Amino acid sequence: MTEPISVVVLSTGLENFKDIRKALTAESRVQLLAGGNDADQLYEEIVRLKPTAAIIALGPNADHAVRFIERLNGECPNTALISAAQDASPDLILRSLRAGAREFLRLPIIADELRTVLDRISDFTVKQVEAPKKKGRMVAVFSSKGGCGTSFVATNLAAATNSRTVLVDLNLQAGDLPLFLGLEAKYSIADMVEKRQRLDGELINSLVTPHSQNLWLLAAPREADSADEIEPQHVFEVLQKLREHYDYIVLDPQHTFDSITLAALDQSDEIILVLTLDIPAIRSTQRALEIFDRLGYPRKKVRIVVNRWSKQIDLDLRQVEKFLGEPCVGFVPSDYQTAVNSINLGTPLVQAEPTSKIALEIRRIAETISLGVAPIQEVGQRRGFLGSLFKKSQSQTNPLEQNRLGRGQSESGAPALGFSMPKS
Ligand SMILES: Nc1ncnc2c1ncn2[C@@H]1O[C@H](COP(=O)(O)OP(=O)(O)OP(=O)(O)O)[C@@H](O)[C@H]1O
Ligand SMILES: [Mg+2]
Repeated sequence: MTEPISVVVLSTGLENFKDIRKALTAESRVQLLAGGNDADQLYEEIVRLKPTAAIIALGPNADHAVRFIERLNGECPNTALISAAQDASPDLILRSLRAGAREFLRLPIIADELRTVLDRISDFTVKQVEAPKKKGRMVAVFSSKGGCGTSFVATNLAAATNSRTVLVDLNLQAGDLPLFLGLEAKYSIADMVEKRQRLDGELINSLVTPHSQNLWLLAAPREADSADEIEPQHVFEVLQKLREHYDYIVLDPQHTFDSITLAALDQSDEIILVLTLDIPAIRSTQRALEIFDRLGYPRKKVRIVVNRWSKQIDLDLRQVEKFLGEPCVGFVPSDYQTAVNSINLGTPLVQAEPTSKIALEIRRIAETISLGVAPIQEVGQRRGFLGSLFKKSQSQTNPLEQNRLGRGQSESGAPALGFSMPKS
């Protein structure tokens, strides 16, 4: 069965409209949804109705019509735009096509020409439906205990990638990621939620804050009031849209299992579970793993990363892993001075000090979870003059290097059993 083609018509007068309507009604597959010569009103109708096609007559004010086509093309990329005119010059036809019109129709309409144009539009629509939507990878950097460094790790992970990445601040009541990136965000996720029904590439671009070549920030609302109105379903919808627009979506959720955080974790392809090696954080990580099990998350979705790793920590890593029932895949060294400097300067460390131990380990973690990572030279160039203000980071030992030597002994050099695991 032939798919119906819904059409909206912007004419340049009554006669003109009557002619187009007559030709369209002769085609049984066409559903004429709206028409007239009020450009502003019809623009809104087209955005609202998202018809298969819109016919735009190029009247005496051709510039106006060409701009109309240009705007519509940005807002409704799935609507096939058809420019139409009586005695149009090749130059005008070309301008309308360059503005985004897909086809051109001569007026008065010739039935055969209309049929050919409608056939091509049907093909275009079928291809649109068939074309798989892009689906960016979503990684949540999570910790059920505050202060473990999730925002720091999330920011650096997002800044290390080699393709379009958006970092999303889901700490809706008190997000601070603009500070981590040295940005002032004009819009936030609350604006995206409000406009979610008509989110397309252009609108998304206007609501995120650009940071560097491949990195954008979607900030948390500045006023707590607007955060109150955001519901889990809204966050779900916004994140789905972001997937269509970015290669990587890195989330910095809250440290609780509230419904918005759960909506984000459910959707994520991977969860980086960050902990520091102290008893409260280890216990909290173990509880988080239990909750993930209850939620039915496969264990391979969750990767445990130790932040603020130091070989001075008097805990046996092997025991910690045994207690958690999962290996730790990353060990971000503890270097408070370097970490805090990069936060205070608002430049992610992977850009400011790409060869520091912390940056190298974050890059390695990104590769472990198969995120594309930009070459060090390229990332380093993004840092500008700020990098020179940083001190060289202190040397720390990455336990993965030690693990190659043998996991049996305590990495800290401390007695292996100097720690007893808390009971859950
Ligand atoms: N690898 C590290 N070495 C030393 N200090 C670090 C490291 N990572 C983070 N920090 C420090 O820990 C502090 C907390 O970091 P961050 O804000 O990223 O944590 P968080 O888990 O997001 O906390 P919040 O509960 O505020 O969301 C910061 O002062 C940061 O400088
Ligand atoms: Mg945080």
